[in-house]
Amino acid sequence: MKLLTSLRAVRSLAVALAVLAGSAACSSDPEPVSRAVRDPHSFANIDAFRTRHIDLTLHVDFDARRLRATADLTLDRLDPRARTVVLDTRDLDVRGAWLVREGDEPLPLEHSLGEPQPPLGQALTLELPESANAERITVRVEYETRPEASGLQWLTPEQTAGGAHPFLFTQSQAIHARSWIPLQDTPQVRATYRATVHTPAGLRAVMSADNSAQAERGEDGKTDVYRFDMPQAIPSYLIALGVGRLEFRSVGPRSGVYAEPSVVEAAAREFADLEDMIEACERMFGPYRWGRYDLLILPPSFPFGGMENPRLSFITPTVIAGDRSLVALIAHELAHSWSGNLVTNATWRDLWLNEGFTTYLERRIVEALYGRRRAQMEDALGLQSLQRDLEDLEPRDEVLAIDLTGRDPDDVFSDVPYEKGKLFIQWLESRLGREQLDEFLKGYFDRFAFQSITTEQFLDHLRTYLKSAAPDAVDEAQLRTWIYEPGLPEFAVLPPGDAFTHVDRARADWVEGRIDATQLPAREWTTHEWLHFLDNLPQQVPQERLAELDRAFGLTEVENAEIAHSWLLVAVRNRYEPAYPRLERYLTTIGRRKLIKPLYEALVETSEGAERARRIYERARPGYHPIAASTIDSILQAAP
Ligand code: BES
Ligand code: ZN
Repeated sequence: MKLLTSLRAVRSLAVALAVLAGSAACSSDPEPVSRAVRDPHSFANIDAFRTRHIDLTLHVDFDARRLRATADLTLDRLDPRARTVVLDTRDLDVRGAWLVREGDEPLPLEHSLGEPQPPLGQALTLELPESANAERITVRVEYETRPEASGLQWLTPEQTAGGAHPFLFTQSQAIHARSWIPLQDTPQVRATYRATVHTPAGLRAVMSADNSAQAERGEDGKTDVYRFDMPQAIPSYLIALGVGRLEFRSVGPRSGVYAEPSVVEAAAREFADLEDMIEACERMFGPYRWGRYDLLILPPSFPFGGMENPRLSFITPTVIAGDRSLVALIAHELAHSWSGNLVTNATWRDLWLNEGFTTYLERRIVEALYGRRRAQMEDALGLQSLQRDLEDLEPRDEVLAIDLTGRDPDDVFSDVPYEKGKLFIQWLESRLGREQLDEFLKGYFDRFAFQSITTEQFLDHLRTYLKSAAPDAVDEAQLRTWIYEPGLPEFAVLPPGDAFTHVDRARADWVEGRIDATQLPAREWTTHEWLHFLDNLPQQVPQERLAELDRAFGLTEVENAEIAHSWLLVAVRNRYEPAYPRLERYLTTIGRRKLIKPLYEALVETSEGAERARRIYERARPGYHPIAASTIDSILQAAP
């Protein structure tokens, strides 16, 4: 008896220690309950309750631009005395809340919405009765979203490729899931989910989940019903939904593309390398653990290049260039299946754990599939872009572990977590050698699979690894400089500077008048070479030289969205008027923030440009996603 008790004591001590360390004793154990870190972007009381599973019912109403919905949240109780559940919401119309009890009627709950606190939204507080003391409870919230929900974009038929059917998509990262689901909206909490989605008949719903269930026609004959199951626990920012006139094309044994009918063939051709990408990543960093990997190609208003929604990345159509030259973006979203979706940043301060690792993995995939030269060109472009950002950023925004308290994560978007994060991993590679770095990364993905971790947990893990595997490889002070200091450390290992020497030489020859545009050796240039050429032209180029360049290469009419972007920037800086109609067409058809933001910024440099920007924006804004619109709003508000 005594022995038993002490054995039990030892066991529970071990469990407690494992819990404190946030570690699973073995990989088949349930996810450990790590202690909550404070997340300044969530109201949720995750020390008292933790969501384990979410059951959604969504009715998609395109006329009202609303989701009519119920969310059943199954919560684990961590604090036996807690009787209050606090959830995150933004702009939700809450119709009621209940405690759901098996074999019993749902019990209405007292609930209240707090005052709106931008940028967080409103806390939704549910009061449980004293009797609700079980270790696991289910609460239900019935609600409607608002037409202006920040995480949803409702598109009219005219805003789609086909022009005949409306489209809806979600974008939950960073803190927008709360605008379409009341939940614990912090990446520290992971839940499985199921959903039943009712769409107008003929419109297909897809989610970041198993999409294989057959749709059923609803009883009224006017709706279709789709069912989804996500058996792997994911953070709230990865819950995603798309609804539209969608078709599917398989491109590999476990991959394919969903897109509007007029886009699906081109997309399937562009992304034919998907399976090779998955295999390359598996060889380097361990198994792909999510079953299928599909892409959803969105209409051009999608505010990002891509979003790594698990099993189903959301992708801008602006990467369909016709020559697969922009597929690094697919490599990036795929790589998040390891860095981000498997091992997740615990708060948005730790975003670099997602984006820096992923940018590193992305370049490794590109190197494996398309060779070192192309990876080096992408490295060089990434570094240039980072250096341009660093010129404008405040020191506090140049650190990897960035303090976002009191700020909207959307407002603090830069290349720092991406390219500086990538350079940090690159530096680790230079200290350890590639083979050992890969071993470390594989172990890291295994160790923290399906967990959310902080920068400091990562650092502890790295230190432990280094102690036994490479005791002298890394200097602690240098490590801290990378993570906590602004700028780029002077000991950073930068990509070789010669990736574009030939382009620099050609540009100089042309700029200095030794050759004319037709003599530029640019007929064979790839997208990357063109971007480097255009992005590094002098600030001022004479009109007639721009006209000459335009005549030689038809730049104003180029369809490649990235090259067009770089050309239009040159045109705006130089007030090259022949490109203005194209500029207007560009800004009114594309809503990808990274591509439109610099153009508006360049326009507002002059008062004449600011006027043009306002005129264009008036037409463009209704087509932009709330995230992009809010960015452009700030640019124009600050303009002359
Ligand atoms: N997860 C990001 C997008 C994101 C980040 C949305 C932070 C909201 C907040 C995605 O993986 C991403 O990084 N997309 C990039 C493309 C990539 C190739 C750099 C983008 O959209 O430009
Ligand atoms: Zn990313």
